[in-house]
Amino acid sequence: MFNHKNYSRRRFLAQSGLGLAAFAAMPGFLRAMEGMNVMPKLAPNKASPNFKPDVEFDLFSRSSSVSILPGQQTMVQQYAALLKKGPKDTITDITGSYLGPIIRLQKGQKVRINLHNKLAEPTVTHWHGLHVPANMDGHPMYAIDPGETLVYEFEVLNRAGMNIYHPHPHEATAKQVYNGLAGALFVHDEEEAKLELPSGEFEIPIVIQDRLFDELNQLVYVRGMHDRMTGFYGDRILVNGAPDFKIDVASRAYRLRVLNGSTARIYKLGWDDGTPITVIGVDGGLLEKPEVKPYVMLAPGERLDVWADFSGRNEGSQLVMRSLPFSGVLPKMAERMMGGGMGMMHHNKIPVGSDYPIFTARVTKKVSDSPKLPSQLSTINWHPISAVANPDKPVPIGISEGPMAMLLNGRPYAYNDIQDFERIKVNTIQLMEIFHAHGGSGGHGKESAQANGEHGAEKPSGGMEGMGMMGGMKHGDGDQKGGGQGMMGMGGGMGMMGGMKHGDDDQKGGGMGIMGDMKHGDGDQKGGGQGMGGMKGMGGGMGGMGMMMSMAHPIHLHGQQFQIVSRSVSADAEADYATVREGFIESGLKDVVLVMPGEKVRIIKPFQDFKGLFMYHCHNLEHEDMGMMRDFLVE
Ligand code: C2O
Ligand code: CU
Ligand code: CU
Repeated sequence: MFNHKNYSRRRFLAQSGLGLAAFAAMPGFLRAMEGMNVMPKLAPNKASPNFKPDVEFDLFSRSSSVSILPGQQTMVQQYAALLKKGPKDTITDITGSYLGPIIRLQKGQKVRINLHNKLAEPTVTHWHGLHVPANMDGHPMYAIDPGETLVYEFEVLNRAGMNIYHPHPHEATAKQVYNGLAGALFVHDEEEAKLELPSGEFEIPIVIQDRLFDELNQLVYVRGMHDRMTGFYGDRILVNGAPDFKIDVASRAYRLRVLNGSTARIYKLGWDDGTPITVIGVDGGLLEKPEVKPYVMLAPGERLDVWADFSGRNEGSQLVMRSLPFSGVLPKMAERMMGGGMGMMHHNKIPVGSDYPIFTARVTKKVSDSPKLPSQLSTINWHPISAVANPDKPVPIGISEGPMAMLLNGRPYAYNDIQDFERIKVNTIQLMEIFHAHGGSGGHGKESAQANGEHGAEKPSGGMEGMGMMGGMKHGDGDQKGGGQGMMGMGGGMGMMGGMKHGDDDQKGGGMGIMGDMKHGDGDQKGGGQGMGGMKGMGGGMGGMGMMMSMAHPIHLHGQQFQIVSRSVSADAEADYATVREGFIESGLKDVVLVMPGEKVRIIKPFQDFKGLFMYHCHNLEHEDMGMMRDFLVE
């Protein structure tokens, strides 16, 4: 019914010209690859007689068609809900939209949700942002087949905030979300209620997504490898499922609850007349105090609570929220392909990082009264660094991009492939470090560390050992040996490219036509340092191999929200970073953090209450489905 090419990972590899033989020398990697499809199929959870819900509703995943553009209806997949018990405002449909109904829960409520799979394929729903037991979290191992029902039961432990519900089936999350399966889930609590923030018609959800349509108004999805590597970009912006979205407002304050529900597109949100954005909350709820920003970056999965005050504006005036220009989130490789006319990016009317409108607010009513912005919004229970279990040994989350593989900590997703550093003690608070490992993590792997004879003291703990990747990927290029870790890491990436076209010692002109820029042999790279130091070691700038492949990744961790401790960016990424740097908010709790090329982010995350598997992954959903996802085992 959908025209989507649903590559299995193996077919994807085969078609991309990278034979499995190329991986033969990488036992760890290969093992993980082979494990990819072995996701257990469990009997769906049933309602427990002892659980007494305050709220209960049926949630249907189904195929449907809706009017999005003028003319023919668009076939979509869609959530629908039916309230069985609880306050009437628990479920609010968005009329005419493919988006799922808005779900509103109160902190402390006991909730039962019966998910009915009316699709023709497996699905499971994840409550992105909610702190729920592992078996209620929508892990792909709980996916249900067509016709089956999965019962979720949990208590709402979260503070007030905007969350998301969306599918999470193995290797099909992006496609199902793209087809329409997603919705906003709000939690409210007393702390929030006391503030008397704008509510009812004055609290407006703004779910931003991009879609690509064919001449028959049908959704077009991934058309080839390139669409997956960069993530998929539509050329129409939809808000709450509608194109050219407009809201009519009175000249008073509103609360806009913004969610980036796109699979890959990153926005730099700003008002068109230069009015700064007043932010009152992020992923994990209200900030302590409002923050005023010239613009805000919003990556897939991220949320933003905006205080939009139209007071003093004239009837008939309008304010447009735009995505403002920025650079650096796509690999330089992709940018060059664009320039060369390769790939779909060339045809996109609104390339990521260009300037285009998101929605328009029209003042249609003049009123004299408006609520005032509270100066104190909430109290956040910050965890000091002294409370973390591992102050000297951050849990690594190493991002690596290769032309064929998107990995975390050097490994693609595989069920039951828990590494030592992915075991987390329950009821601990962990320091974690997200960084670019490049080229399948060769840079942090045991082999490469030995190869270049250095093992940085600051290197994140024990991660990624036994990757065996570099060994298989060696080029025998003398220059490589001297490289810092970043370079070595990239060697892994190159090796993968080399798998397609190889043999040239300095690899000029090989691979995808970008190898010319990947040459190095720069003495500076020797001893390029540890961790991100490898990047710094590249010194010579963006032309280096690491940066050629590097792109921005919105990294998401399931379970409790985290706090951002520090961000640092390598010198060679500074120029691009300057176009986004004012747009990050660290004063709130997060569950997605956008990690720019060359950037290293430290976070503190609690793992309280629940044992079991909690995923971490890139929320560029194409990347997630390619395997840029792993499990933490909380035990
Ligand atoms: Cu919103 Cu595992 O994701
Ligand atoms: Cu999630
Ligand atoms: Cu990614």
